[in-house]
Amino acid sequence: MRMVDIIAKKRNGDALTEKEIRFFIQHYMNDDIPDYQVSALLMAIYYQGMNQQETAVLTQSMVDSGDLIDLSAINGHKVDKHSTGGVGDKITLIVGPLVAAAGVPVAKMSGRGLGHTGGTIDKLESIPGFKVEISNQEFVDNVNRHKLAVVGQTGNLAPADKKLYALRDVTATVESIPLIASSIMSKKIASGADSIVLDVKTGSGAFMKTYEESKQLAKEMVKIGNQLDKATIAVISDMNQPLGYEVGNANEIKEAIEVLQGKNVSDLRELAIELSAQMTLLAGVYQTYEHAASELEKLMDNGNAYHALKEFVKAQGGDTSVIDDPHQLSSSQYHIDVKAENTGFIHGMEADTIGIAAMHLGAGRATKEDTIDHGVGVSLHKKIGDQVKAGDTLVTLHSNQEKVDEVAELVKSAFTIKPKQSERRKMIYNVIK
Ligand code: URA
Repeated sequence: MRMVDIIAKKRNGDALTEKEIRFFIQHYMNDDIPDYQVSALLMAIYYQGMNQQETAVLTQSMVDSGDLIDLSAINGHKVDKHSTGGVGDKITLIVGPLVAAAGVPVAKMSGRGLGHTGGTIDKLESIPGFKVEISNQEFVDNVNRHKLAVVGQTGNLAPADKKLYALRDVTATVESIPLIASSIMSKKIASGADSIVLDVKTGSGAFMKTYEESKQLAKEMVKIGNQLDKATIAVISDMNQPLGYEVGNANEIKEAIEVLQGKNVSDLRELAIELSAQMTLLAGVYQTYEHAASELEKLMDNGNAYHALKEFVKAQGGDTSVIDDPHQLSSSQYHIDVKAENTGFIHGMEADTIGIAAMHLGAGRATKEDTIDHGVGVSLHKKIGDQVKAGDTLVTLHSNQEKVDEVAELVKSAFTIKPKQSERRKMIYNVIK
């Protein structure tokens, strides 16, 4: 088999066979095929696409290139949740304890933030003492005991994806649905859960800006999961504004705790119930969506989910006094209000710009090597549809630098204020099964 023939076949719009896809992945990993040939193939895939069979085979080949996490020592049906990435997305910190309170084991590997999106692992490190690296045995024991553990990614998961992604990044071939779908699903499948709930974001702060693109990606990932024997459901949710009111690390932990303590932050609560309902249905704990949603509401309201959060934090060495009193979590030296210049209604908010502003304050990383300041971030005072008067505070910047004029201007530019009230955004657009 020759790589040049595989490139030509895809360039001409024909489907590749399993043998051809496996050949290209294996030989690329062995450094027998040069980057320039793989780049050409990626560009051919970008233009010609891949059918369902090809995408599933590509995913499986990338899974097979590395370790497969073995979660068999954990009792019960393990369900993973994955978000395609957003701003203010602290939903794992609510869904994890909520689903655990319903009896579903959650053995979660999470990532760190990069660019305008945050990562659960960085957020958890805002809790004094919390360990994101624990031994495999401790991970398994914690999930068996408390139904929840969250750790940073360990093992060599889907290294072919890592190598291909780096090449896609510099060859303008990231934005290809089969390549994105296989990339995400290879890492999820290698993580070892029995089934997967995907939170596919759509809007200004998301990887996919339009609903149609998000739906296509969601459908593709669900098909891959099901074809590779992992029951998979995708929820398409709004990312035209940050989730909740807090963007950062410690402040996002604080908001997640408050929701579990009973505060009604409506978008966070709605998304948490939706994702948790899908997870518990996949795990077979509840039989109907309505029953799942009403039981999960109860677990949120009766404090069981909050209790599960405390148990999980304690088991991973975290100081639970900050869970009881989240105001103890680290904060910044300066709190600078950014005011509205016009009167009207919030019509739009560029979520990615708010994420970038938080990153400039030190809450996120521009490059992988950057360090994080856990106490800084952005608090929103208004969301889309809210009325605003000139002089009202739109956001508060939490900073350790006194002068943040550029960040304040950036945040202000993220808001569109119009005289007429616009509709509030809906949170859940669709569920793809
Ligand atoms: N996230 C991934 O993991 N892979 C992609 O290709 C795009 C986003």
